[in-house]
Parts: sequence; C-alpha cells; structure tokens
Amino acid sequence: MAKKSSFNNYVSDYFDRNSSGRADLVAGDSFNSLGFKQKKTDVLELVEHHALRLKSDTDSLKICDVGCNDGAFIEYLLGIQAEIDLYGVDVSRKALAKAKANSNLDKVSFDLVDGESGDLPFADETFDIITSIEVIEHVEDKDKMLSEIYRILKPGGVVVLTTPNKESVALNLQVFLVGFIRYCFGKKGHKDIFIDEKGFEELYKKVGFLCEKKDILYWIRPYLTISYSTYTLGLLLPFMLPVPSIFLLYYQRMLNKYFGRFFKTRLITRFFCWSIFVVLRK
Ligand SMILES: C[S@@+](CC[C@H](N)C(=O)[O-])C[C@H]1O[C@@H](n2cnc3c(N)ncnc32)[C@H](O)[C@@H]1O
Repeated sequence: MAKKSSFNNYVSDYFDRNSSGRADLVAGDSFNSLGFKQKKTDVLELVEHHALRLKSDTDSLKICDVGCNDGAFIEYLLGIQAEIDLYGVDVSRKALAKAKANSNLDKVSFDLVDGESGDLPFADETFDIITSIEVIEHVEDKDKMLSEIYRILKPGGVVVLTTPNKESVALNLQVFLVGFIRYCFGKKGHKDIFIDEKGFEELYKKVGFLCEKKDILYWIRPYLTISYSTYTLGLLLPFMLPVPSIFLLYYQRMLNKYFGRFFKTRLITRFFCWSIFVVLRK
C-alpha cells in the first residue's frame, strides 16, 4: 500500500486523538458544541427538505455523511420523516469506533476512507443525498473528494457541504488564538486548507455540479467567540460559564430573524460568519 502523505497522516492522527468529548472542548474543538449544534440544525433542515422531495413510495432513500466523525450528525438524521438508509464514512478509525459503539446508530453502516487515495468505498450512483460538514478544508486533494462525491451520487441527487469561510476575520483570529493556546499546552492543532466562496465555486463547477443554493450559515460569531473563551477558561476553571444552550440558540434565532439581512451583508459576513454552505445537484 502506498505510504500516506504527511498531510493525510496528520489529519487522520489528529482526528483519532480528538474525536469529541470534554477534553477537546477545553482544547478548542468540539463537534457537539453549541456552534456545531446550530450548524447541524441548519443543515438538517436542508436535508429534510430534499429528503421529502426525493422520497418515493417504493425505495428507501440512501443518505451518506462524508467525514461523519463519531456520527453526531447522523443521529440528527434519524429523525427525518422518510424511509432512509444511513451511511457514514471517515478517515479516523477511533471516531468510527465511537460511532459504532453508539447503540442509537446500530442500523447505520460505517466505513473507513483511505485518506491517501480519497476513494469512497461505494459503487457509482448509490446515494440520493450526501452531507459533508466541515470536512473539505481538511482534505488536500479537494478535486478528488468532490469527484468521488459526484460519482457516488445518483443523478438528481444533492449534496450539502459546509466549510469555514476563509474570508472571515473572526475565523482567522480564532484559528490563530486557539492554535497559540494549544501550542502553549503542547497540543497540535488542526491542519486546514481553507477555501473561500469563489474557490469553492470553481471546485464544484469543475466537477460538474449545479449549485442549487449557496449561503452563509446563520451562525453569528460573537457568541461563539464567547463560548470558545469559556472553553479556554475551562482549562483553568473546572466549570464553564453556565449559559444555557437554549438561551443562546434563542438569541441566535432572534438575531437572524430581525437582523438577518444586515448580518448577510458582505462586510459583516467577511468579519463574522464562520461557515459557508452549498447545496449542489448532480
Ligand atoms: C471538523 S470534523 C467534522 C466532523 C463532522 N462532520 C461534524 O460536523 O461533526 C472533520 C472530520 O473529517 C474527517 N476527514 C478528514 N479528511 C477526510 C477524508 N478525506 N474523507 C473523509 N473524512 C475525512 C475527520 O476525520 C473528521 O472526523
């Protein structure tokens, strides 16, 4: 077998070490943190919409989460009101082991992706819907990843992809600060190759996808910056700031409802909006 490049090795080792839980929270990463919850709720709405559109009376829908980690998002998908078969793939063995140990997910099929080849272990035109949340930035050969997703998607199927917004000043600040804190505590950080909206568009158009929807995620940065600070404080204080998630989600919803248009102006998204998402159709 070909030797993994150091980039891919780094990524799978990193996610083997950090596949969720409080330890990662304190260090600045959590796939179940509030921000991720908000993002998953937003992506779930999109997936549900397409699942209802694509469902048929005869066959169950096939949905795959690429870069599923410990299956946290797949758990959200279990609630979709349609007959679905769920699949998850990841390069991290440890994250997949966690996913497989979760009894709520025992009907889900999980598979390991070889990070070096980037081949997805499925036949052509297998899936109706594919999701991939905050994964493409960890992949060196992004063309290959998107071509593989295109290959395993059925004609007419959709993929929902999210990735951090390279242009966000807040994101870049945070990457720097969290990286610095991790460095001070002797921890290795993420290895990311971020893409901006334009770069993203070039990539998916080249592969042949049609863009159905493109937006920022309704996910405004300031409260996350606060929550990240509390995680960081968690290194020193055993208890994190007890701000109830429900309050923050409500605050987020209200901000979007009344000031959404303002937050979506270019200037503001450049500063605050962490993620961009696209819904692509084959
Ligand atoms: C930031 S995490 C996001 C996890 C999950 N999608 C979520 O939102 O909770 C990135 C995930 O992508 C996985 N990953 C990195 N490179 C990958 C690749 N080439 N193929 C599949 N998964 C990959 C990592 O192991 C990690 O679990």
